[in-house]
Amino acid sequence: MTTKDRYTAFAREVRGMSPAYERLSEAVARDDELLARLDTLPPAKRQPNLLFAAVRLLGGPVTDPATFRGYALANWPVIAAEMRVRATQTNEPGRCAVLLPVLASLPQPLALLEVGASAGLCLYPDRYAYRYGDHQLGDGEPVLDCAISGTAPPTRRPEVVWRAGLDLNPLDVTDPADVAWLDALIWPEHGHRRERLRAAAAVARAEPPQLVRGDLVDDLPALAARAPRDATLVVFHTSVLYQVPPARRDAFAELVRELPGHWIANEDPDVLRYPALPEPPADGFHNVLALDGKPLAWTRGHGQAITWFG
Ligand SMILES: C[S@@+](CC[C@H](N)C(=O)[O-])C[C@H]1O[C@@H](n2cnc3c(N)ncnc32)[C@H](O)[C@@H]1O
Repeated sequence: MTTKDRYTAFAREVRGMSPAYERLSEAVARDDELLARLDTLPPAKRQPNLLFAAVRLLGGPVTDPATFRGYALANWPVIAAEMRVRATQTNEPGRCAVLLPVLASLPQPLALLEVGASAGLCLYPDRYAYRYGDHQLGDGEPVLDCAISGTAPPTRRPEVVWRAGLDLNPLDVTDPADVAWLDALIWPEHGHRRERLRAAAAVARAEPPQLVRGDLVDDLPALAARAPRDATLVVFHTSVLYQVPPARRDAFAELVRELPGHWIANEDPDVLRYPALPEPPADGFHNVLALDGKPLAWTRGHGQAITWFG
């Protein structure tokens, strides 16, 4: 895929969700000068989300394409330097709302092990509050709103006695620079997600997660072995495997099936394939939620909806 194709595809991907990034992506895809600058970076560092987040982090403009272009060309060396050292690691605690129906159904208490944890904000499903339509669960902030259909909303939060995460590049919720990067990764119009990030980061800072730097295949067995034996081990991941090469995804799926406990995947159906899936809902991109390899539901990308299979 050329860089131009990537920006054209991203414009389609964010349509209806981020008008600003749709405009910017379309403009970059037509801009030979900006495309040439991007092509001086390694292929993995040319991503639209990385470029726009780097500009946001630096305080640059990300709504009007002409102003964005002027800023990007004038400040290219500093933008490129940020893009080289950073990665797209959006950490979306809202995804806990789609994990909750499965987590609550497992034998309690749970030992949670998240692979591709970023800053670990999805490791606190027991601490957040939830609103499934008019059904509220838990108090305090953040409140995670989720439209649920095809199954009853969960009636309890899980009991978590151990939580740990694995990531190639763990981010630290107690480090303001890492939290600023997580904030910069949120699309410009998504103020509610920015507030949710602040609230979830406060929850995590009160008891920072155990995060291990490592690979989801090579380093998973050693971390899983540290989980307490008298709790149900749950290895889970959300929106991670698209960043992992196909052969490594297969190696991970094989490995995780051999571990004790349960495996929850919430991933793009193109990266973790299942033999037969119902048609996805019409409104935008959906992940597939699966327990122990069995697909259960379609879920919206930021955890805003879950549609249980009939
Ligand atoms: C898009 S983020 C998703 C973070 C979190 N799961 C969430 O849903 O909010 C993907 C994360 O996976 C991590 N990752 C990618 N490849 C990995 C690998 N081979 N082993 C461990 N972590 C990996 C990245 O560093 C990044 O933090």
